[in-house]
Amino acid sequence: MNTFSRLVTPLNLSEIEPLPNGGQIEYEFFPTDLDVTAPLLHYLCQERWQDIGIGHMVDGSVLELEFNAPPKIFKLYDGYLTIVTEGWHLHLCIAENIGGPDRRTPTEQIQTRLVSRAALYRRLNPEGEPRSWGIQFWNGAGVKMMTFFLPNPFIGDNEDLLSERKPNLEKLKLYEELRETYILGTKELPYDRNPLNKKYISVCRSSRCLPSRNYQPIYEALQSAVKEANLEDVEVCVSGCLEVCKMGPVVFYSGDRTWYSRVTPETAKQIVQEHLVAGQPVAKHVYP
Ligand code: FES
Repeated sequence: MNTFSRLVTPLNLSEIEPLPNGGQIEYEFFPTDLDVTAPLLHYLCQERWQDIGIGHMVDGSVLELEFNAPPKIFKLYDGYLTIVTEGWHLHLCIAENIGGPDRRTPTEQIQTRLVSRAALYRRLNPEGEPRSWGIQFWNGAGVKMMTFFLPNPFIGDNEDLLSERKPNLEKLKLYEELRETYILGTKELPYDRNPLNKKYISVCRSSRCLPSRNYQPIYEALQSAVKEANLEDVEVCVSGCLEVCKMGPVVFYSGDRTWYSRVTPETAKQIVQEHLVAGQPVAKHVYP
């Protein structure tokens, strides 16, 4: 049953963090369920990538990365959202990371890694005037993780600081839209289902994947079998390590989180026909 709701239930929770310079950060929190964080991150990175920066901001260090194009890869695998661009990549744990097919993540670490608090923020100067806007994520240990930087009306197109008296207030539209959607719950999400629940089947292309490093024939066999079966809702892709190294080629089906080892092109076809179409995993190759 699809329980996805297009309206976010507001948490009505806010906090103020005083800053040493006399300013402060105002946080307004929103839920961290995957049905909330996935649409948010998808919207920001796939549809508003020109407008945002991603990085972190802690005492003594600021990092801000920008997109020059939509991400090349935007996938959820074992709890981690992976975003890959031409020049950088990142991983953010937004669902339980069990540690691959062998469930290697210790129970207490599953909660520590996971985004556990998320808030829209405004950073105010000592005069109480907002000067930057963004989204902050914390992990289960209460440590600040990633920051998403939203358009700043005091920063011009060439990253120059605009006059304090002439901000470009148009740039606050994204913040206001996100606030209506995620904090107030008055604006609908732009999706009718969780955009990260799209099923995919991937083959590991890492050269560490022994004994066979030859993923290409498996990839091609998966592609043609998915096409033949008319499975329009399943994407075929390649990925990095799927944690079954030394038993390659390795395939992962996100629909029910199944790992397959020692896959041949024939097995790949069988996986599509028997598992994806008929719902019966190919037991001989399921790992573990
Ligand atoms: S390198 Fe392929 S599964 Fe690890």
